[in-house]
Amino acid sequence: MKDADYFMTESLKVWFLASEVAPFAKTGGLADVAGSLPAYLKSLGVDVRVGLPFYRMAKDRDLKAQKVLEGLEVPLGNTRLRGDVLETSTREGVPVYLFDREDLFDRPNLYGTPEGDYYDNLERFTYFCRAALLFASKVGFQFDLVHCHDWQTGLIPAYVKTLYRANPFFSNVASVFTIHNIGYQGLFPPDRLRICGLPGAEYNPEGLEYWGKISFLKAGIVYADAITTVSPRYSQEIQTPEYGMGMDGILRKRSADLYGILNGADYTSWNPAMDRHITNHYSLGNMRGKRKCKADLVKELGLHERFVDRPVLGMVSRLAPQKGSDLLAQIVEDIVGLDAGLVILGAGEEAYQALFLELGRKYPESVAVTIGFDEGLAHRIMAGVDMLLVPSHYEPCGLTQIYALKYGTVPIVRATGGLDDTINPFDPGSGEGTGFKFSDYQAKAFLDQIREALKVFEDRPGWMKLVENGMQADFSWEKSAREYVSLYEKVKEEA
Ligand code: ADP
Ligand code: GLC
Repeated sequence: MKDADYFMTESLKVWFLASEVAPFAKTGGLADVAGSLPAYLKSLGVDVRVGLPFYRMAKDRDLKAQKVLEGLEVPLGNTRLRGDVLETSTREGVPVYLFDREDLFDRPNLYGTPEGDYYDNLERFTYFCRAALLFASKVGFQFDLVHCHDWQTGLIPAYVKTLYRANPFFSNVASVFTIHNIGYQGLFPPDRLRICGLPGAEYNPEGLEYWGKISFLKAGIVYADAITTVSPRYSQEIQTPEYGMGMDGILRKRSADLYGILNGADYTSWNPAMDRHITNHYSLGNMRGKRKCKADLVKELGLHERFVDRPVLGMVSRLAPQKGSDLLAQIVEDIVGLDAGLVILGAGEEAYQALFLELGRKYPESVAVTIGFDEGLAHRIMAGVDMLLVPSHYEPCGLTQIYALKYGTVPIVRATGGLDDTINPFDPGSGEGTGFKFSDYQAKAFLDQIREALKVFEDRPGWMKLVENGMQADFSWEKSAREYVSLYEKVKEEA
């Protein structure tokens, strides 16, 4: 691929569509990526515009947003829905378009409740996909390329390649589809294909059919000009039966068009020297603030005060099988036995929420559990704990371990996907490495690494070296944003 600078003579127009974008709406790392990468693309000269549904979560933010289109007509099955489009922008001046349709998006959550998905997610995200394309053609945003993310936007490459191909507005448009998580496949019964409006002939194993169902994720994989995922290791893993979750065959088929581009971190939001959610800022060379953050956190969450001087472990995560919540649950009592503190912030599946709450009630002095989504607390935990636990079963990239490094918080991770790509095991002999890693998905292997970490914690100079290594690591977006621009250009040339 050519270097991005080579192409910066004319501006490339990219329509960047995602189902969540920070700070407007967020449930996980996709929002962080969609909220920060566009600014870096812009700084490389790309004319990038971002689109997402106008959820209640975004409405509650009291945005300065202007209606730019009223009554956009979007076909859905036999009917046409009318919706509005509002425009706002990111801090860095990237235009952001919000697709408003109250009955579909003005709800308490983005995708569903702890009991399960919303029953009409097919309608909701079909609407979003079609509305985004129709809006661009209506207002004359002649984009070169649409960059879409995860299953919620998977129909877009299919529309561009099939239904809209004959429409001159779309005939030269290319598409890039990024897989942030292969575990969420957007599966629906086949009789609902007519709601999507795609030709019936596309429902076959070479198209968007997946074991007797429609898969929006597969549509993205099959019809996009290029596919990316969010770490090099995960791009290899998803081509194997073990990690491909049934999509490995189609991904192997498309392996020439599949790229692993590591996520970056947005160090304007995640930086202990300027984090607006913490009161005591700190940086390498001036670490007193971290100790104060820890004391504040111990107090805020009601842990016993001795934990200001004892190791405190944290986890900030969606509570889903992917994240290794079951592994952590199995060793909570061992952690308590080691006289370490444990802080958990998470939201997700009802069973995990109940399990952790129960453990918190059982060990109120040592284990603090907060169920819910709390951006501020996520930052305070990152700053206030000594170690961050990320025992994922699989992890496409993972951002919390990357943020943890910057906060001088040492990650203990399972060697999978992006966790493996971003964390190097600490070697007390050479003083190299940034964290602790285990391979087998076993509670014992996880606990062994926690014990190792606690041992190093007792050796202050060793621990400080480890903390320093992490704080010096650089995962900023510049490099990855350039890789995206190079890929955009390649795909555009070939479209
Ligand atoms: P994933 O996207 O799979 O959830 P990542 O590690 O990529 O995992 O990103 C998770 C993001 O969501 C991080 O910004 C993390 O701080 C945030 N997060 C996860 N759970 C919560 C929560 N309960 N409250 C606040 N932030 C959370
Ligand atoms: C996902 C993945 C996570 C990744 C994030 C952003 O939801 O689970 O590993 O960091 O998307 O790409």
